Order: sequence, then C-alpha cells, then structure tokens
Amino acid sequence: MAILIDASKRVLVQGITGREGAARTRLMKEYGTNVLAGVTPGRGGQQVEGVPVFDTVAEATEALGVFDVSVLFIPAPLVKSAAFEALAAGVKLLVIVPDRVPLYDVLEIVAEAEARGAAFVGPNTLGLLSPGKGVLGMMGGRAASAREWFFPGPVGVTSRSGGITTSIAYYLARSGLGLSTIVHVGGDSIVGLPHAEVLKRFEADPETECVVLFGEIGTSQEETVAELIASGGFTKPLVAYIGGKAAKRGTRFSHAGAIIEGDRGTYEGKVSLLREVGAHVVDSFADIPAVTARVLNRKTISLPAQPNGQTTSGGQPAMTTTDASSAPEPSLRWHTAVSRIRPNEIRLRGYRIDELMGNVTFSQAIFLALTGDLPSPEVGRLLDAIFVSSIDHGVTPPSALAARTAASTGAPYNAAIAAGLLSINQYHGGAIENSMRMIQHGLELASANSGDFAAAAAALVAEYRQAKRRLPGFGHRLHTADPRTRRLLELAEEVGIAGHGVAMIRAIEAAWAEQGSKPLPVNVDGAIAALLVDLRLPPELANTFFMMARVPGLVAQIHEEKTRERPMRIIHPTEHDYDGPEDRDLTQV
Ligand SMILES: CC(C)(COP(=O)(O)OP(=O)(O)OC[C@H]1O[C@@H](n2cnc3c(N)ncnc32)[C@H](O)[C@@H]1OP(=O)(O)O)[C@@H](O)C(=O)NCCC(=O)NCCS
Repeated sequence: MAILIDASKRVLVQGITGREGAARTRLMKEYGTNVLAGVTPGRGGQQVEGVPVFDTVAEATEALGVFDVSVLFIPAPLVKSAAFEALAAGVKLLVIVPDRVPLYDVLEIVAEAEARGAAFVGPNTLGLLSPGKGVLGMMGGRAASAREWFFPGPVGVTSRSGGITTSIAYYLARSGLGLSTIVHVGGDSIVGLPHAEVLKRFEADPETECVVLFGEIGTSQEETVAELIASGGFTKPLVAYIGGKAAKRGTRFSHAGAIIEGDRGTYEGKVSLLREVGAHVVDSFADIPAVTARVLNRKTISLPAQPNGQTTSGGQPAMTTTDASSAPEPSLRWHTAVSRIRPNEIRLRGYRIDELMGNVTFSQAIFLALTGDLPSPEVGRLLDAIFVSSIDHGVTPPSALAARTAASTGAPYNAAIAAGLLSINQYHGGAIENSMRMIQHGLELASANSGDFAAAAAALVAEYRQAKRRLPGFGHRLHTADPRTRRLLELAEEVGIAGHGVAMIRAIEAAWAEQGSKPLPVNVDGAIAALLVDLRLPPELANTFFMMARVPGLVAQIHEEKTRERPMRIIHPTEHDYDGPEDRDLTQV
C-alpha cells in the first residue's frame, strides 16, 4: 500500500491543454498514473497524450464515471472555481499545483472540501509520488529518472518544500531505504493537508514503518504534529528536520508560509516540542538517512551516483554498507532558479534573454526575475506605472538629500546612489511593506468574518486607533489627493487586476472616514501595496519596488549636483527653487 496515490486511482487533470498540464500529463502517464480524462473549458473533443478532453468536470464524470483524484494545472485566480467544480462532481482528492492562489480562495476551498468530505494537497505543491505506483503533479520530473531514483519501501516523506521532498527521497534511496509515498504538502501558509493530516494517513498505511518530515519555521504545522503524537494519533517513528534555524523574526524563509510572526512558529519552539514527544529531530540535513536507518534498525547502503546525479540503473545495491550511526558527508552542491548561463545562451527564469529583449518591457522582466512568472503586457503596463509613480519626489526626501550630500563630497555615482538607497527605511519609502501586511491582516479578519470587508476594515481601524498606531499607506505631508494614488487604482481596474487588495484598502479608507476622524486618504505607498497584494508579491519585496523606482531619480539628482553645484556646499533641505521646463503636456509630444 501507499497513501493518496496508487495505480488504482482514477485521475482527472484540470487545465490539461495548458503548457504544464499537457507536459505533466505525459510524465504522469509514463510513470503509470491512471490518467483517464482532462478538462479545459472550450477544448472538449480534443485529446492530450491520448487522454480525452471535456469542457467540464461534470461532462467528464458523466462519460467516464466519478474520479478519485483531480490534479489542477490552472492559473491561480481560476483555481477556486475549478476546485469547486471538481468537488461538486464528487472528486475526493485534489492536488492544487499552482502557486499564488489567494489566501481567501484557499479558505473557501477548505470549507467546501470539508463540507463534501474531500481533501486537497497544496496549493503551491510539487505533488506526491508512490514509487512504482503513481505520481500526481510535478514530482520526480522525467518518469525514467523517477523510476531509477525511488523504489518502494517502508519510509514515508512529508515536506513543506517541493525540492527538498525529492532530495530527501533521493538520499534515502541512495542509502538503500525504499519509500511508501513522498508528499509535498505545499509551501503556503494554509494548505489542504498539513503534516499532521498526512501523518494520520501514514499511520493507517501498513507499508509505512517510519516517516521523515521536513518542517520549516512559520505556521503551526509542526506544533500540531507534536500534539498529534502526544495524543497517540501517530505512533510510528518520526525523523524530523526543521529548516530556517538562522531566519530572523518577520523574514520569510523561501516559502510563503515560512515566516515567524511574533513568537509563533519559531525554530526553537518546533524543535523542542517535537523532541519532547520523542521525534528524532536531526540538526544536519545530511543525517536524515543514517538516523532513519537507525530507527528502522537497518544498515544503510551507498549507491554510487552517476555524473548526472542519478543512481545506476536498476538500483542494485552493489555497493558499500555503512553503519547506520555514521552520517554521510553533506553535499556542497546548491541550487539557483534565477538564471542559467551556458556558452552562447543566457536564460532568465527559463526564457532566453535575447528573446525577452525587445519583446517585453523592463518592468515585465523585473517581475519575471523576482517571481519566476512573466506577466502579461497589461500587467507590465501597471508595473511600469508603479515604477514611474515613484521615480522622483523632489530634493527634500531623505534619499535625495543623502545622495546629493554624498555626491557633493566627490563620491562616485555608485557611492552616492548607495547613500540614497541606504536612507530608504521604515519612515521613508518603507510604508509599502507595512501597508501590505496591514491589508493582508484585513483580509484575514474578513475571512474570519464571513467575507465582510467593511466589518473587517472597521475592526482593523479600531485596532490601530486603540493602539495609537498610524495606518501605513495613508495620508501625506503635502498632498491631500495624491495624483499617483488615483491613477494607480484606476489603472488596476483598467487592466483587471484590482481584487481583494484594492477592495480592502478602499474599505479601510471608508472605515477611517466613518470613525469620525479627519479624512486620511490612501497615499501612493498604500495604492502600490494594494496592487502588490493583488499581484501576489510577498510583502518583504515591497520596498524594493520603491528602491528600484527611485534609483533613476537619485541618479538625476546626483548628476545635477555634480554638474551644477560646487563641492561641499551647504545643502539646505528647503531653500531651493525650480528652474526646469515650464509645465508640459504629454498630449503635445
Ligand atoms: C498552474 C500553472 C502551472 C499553469 O501554468 P501553464 O500551464 O503555463 O498555464 P497555461 O495558461 O498554459 O494553462 C492553463 C490552462 O488551464 C485552462 N483553464 C483555465 N480555467 C480552467 C478551468 N476552470 N478548468 C480547466 N481548465 C482551465 C486554461 O484554459 C489553460 O489551457 P489552454 O492553454 O489550453 O487555454 C502555473 O500557473 C503555476 O502556478 N505555476 C507554478 C507552479 C508551481 O511552481 N507550483 C509549486 C511547485 S513547488
């Protein structure tokens, strides 16, 4: 046996005609997964890899019967409706691969799945794999490699990182330890089947004798595992590694859900709770195979790796045996997913740089570099607007004064730019991140309040007023109706990305006005924050948008300082006059 996927499961693929859907259907089928049908609205009647495509899940079900599992390769904004469609058609397990599914939508899917007695893995999951029996999602890559890497056996794996799921499985198999099922629960803060739910399934699986868990800082998943073990709900040996030991509070550690907030989700807390209930928590990732072998009372076997990192074919253990207590040497090999450089070829997030050049804007390329997703030209237009909105704001902001001051000392351009950037902090250019976090807090309150944005915003404003905290992203020392705010929010509607983020910031503005205070309009930072929430950017990147936008303005200020002013002059912050071009109109260009 295995859990969640085996050769008997009847599998549907939603989004089968898309780029990933089609490619992964081929790999899943090659591995032996019983993929019976696919769904893409408007593509009914087509075939993908010999699999019939239907317009709706209901039509596929009517033709072929109820499916056990549906794997979703559907862009994040469309996931909720597709998941609801599959659940309504009686599918009991969904694998939601896409990342950036809105938190609020995930909460709704949780409720719908619960109501229908169903479950889901993900979102933001690489999927799961039961060696020799089946794979769902993108786990394992090429079928031939997956067959060679992983073989059936007694160890289950549950992990909050996709890449690390396969790494753990690979190193266990390299040490001669077979696997029952390997599961990537997903990298987001809310997932359908967190560790504890996966462990309950491993507990019921006779083939699984022991489980390896890869946890991370943030969320309460590992704490819940400790509770499950303490209550007797999981009785098999658990080997655990917790990532994020060095991460500071408030810093996201690679995945959306891996962030310590307040005192919750800390590395130390998780490790001590797991150790208290008897889990074997290892300090070094490299110790996982040896400790797993020890708790299973087996010896490890080292299979030599081929130059490409794969095992020898057939996985025959010709090799050396080592005592289970001696850990293998940790590998120095690390990974990057930003760009790949080969002779005469440069690729950014998979795209050829010479193909991007002249075909996408700088803003689109920036978004691609940061997130891995190439935005549409329309979203690119909105990103351009964000960058243009913050390019310069006169000589009085601290960053411009710092850059000019450094320039007047004879500092080169790079040093003067750095001086400007170094003065962008909490009180200058730093409100976007805090504003994003406030909006996200508002959305969490709304989801706990049956989706009532107005009530959530009122509660949030009351919370800030009581704590005498300023609302980040509201008010301006000079502008009462910031022209940038209106334009950005207008553009967000125009290009169709205005969603929960924009709705929440507007609800907060209205709630503030209602609570009898003087008007406090959304400022440019608040507008950018709302847009970045709707573009699913992580808050810790927010202020870098301001920095990237401001660099050209700083260069202009530095150049003017160097070419017009004498060195070491006294730079008065407000005693200056404008002598540039008179007001101009873009329509006259
Ligand atoms: C989900 C994801 C893979 C889709 O990417 P993609 O395959 O490049 O997207 P495409 O636009 O080519 O395909 C999506 C398909 O879904 C279809 N679709 C949209 N709504 C649908 C619905 N309700 N039901 C079924 N199909 C639907 C689209 O029509 C499209 O098919 P088409 O191209 O034939 O029109 C991508 O959005 C994503 O999230 N990637 C990140 C995945 C990831 O990293 N996960 C975590 C791993 S650790």
